[in-house]
Amino acid sequence: MSEHPNLTVISHPLIKHKLRYIRDKKTPKKEFKELVDEVAMLMAYEITSDFPLRKVKIKTPMCDMDAEEVSGKKVVLVPILRAGLGMVDGVMKLIPSARIGHIGLYRDHDTLQPVQYYFKIPTHCEDRDFILIDPMLATGGSAAAAAQMLKEEGAKSIKFMSLIAAPEGVRAFYEAHPDIKVYTASLDEKLNEVGYIVPGLGDAGDRLFGTK
Ligand code: PRP
Ligand code: URA
Repeated sequence: MSEHPNLTVISHPLIKHKLRYIRDKKTPKKEFKELVDEVAMLMAYEITSDFPLRKVKIKTPMCDMDAEEVSGKKVVLVPILRAGLGMVDGVMKLIPSARIGHIGLYRDHDTLQPVQYYFKIPTHCEDRDFILIDPMLATGGSAAAAAQMLKEEGAKSIKFMSLIAAPEGVRAFYEAHPDIKVYTASLDEKLNEVGYIVPGLGDAGDRLFGTK
């Protein structure tokens, strides 16, 4: 069995190329945000590849035909604030009808434990496909807590997407939620002694929003 049975690394050359600039500390804030959106959009293409289709009769200018359209449940994107917000526009480009929930969490600097400050998602969770979004899966604490909150509201179908994941976080998330698939653009080397991903990209929220 693979070391990370829940993990899919989406390693398209364009994603790797864009990630190289996202990681680069010289990349300015505006470009950083644009690149994050582009990678999020490319990842969304892959993450939605199992969406079911149904036949639908349409008329082209030439004739009648049986075309196909996505038939699945209503999609809800749930960014983990703040940094998850940075990926939402990119995913919305591919799934414009998606609803958006928000989960506010920050990591306590000393304990690295997630602290909740906001939670708002659509109703009827059991009938929806959730995509939980956060650029960084570090210790996995924030992602695991957010997934738990969705499950407690009745969510049955959840995927998690990140730009960069640490092996420690992927393992911790799998232990907490073995039923949830994790998608990332890169499985990095490790966490450092203060819980940052190495080589990583630094603090995703700060780089997106120009804080610090
Ligand atoms: C970052 C990141 C994740 C979390 C990952 O958020 O966006 O939510 O850390 O770390 P973990 O896997 O160890 O929980 P942060 O707490 O810095 O908040 P921010 O997005 O508001 O900057
Ligand atoms: N949060 C970040 O923004 N970056 C990391 O490397 C780890 C957690």
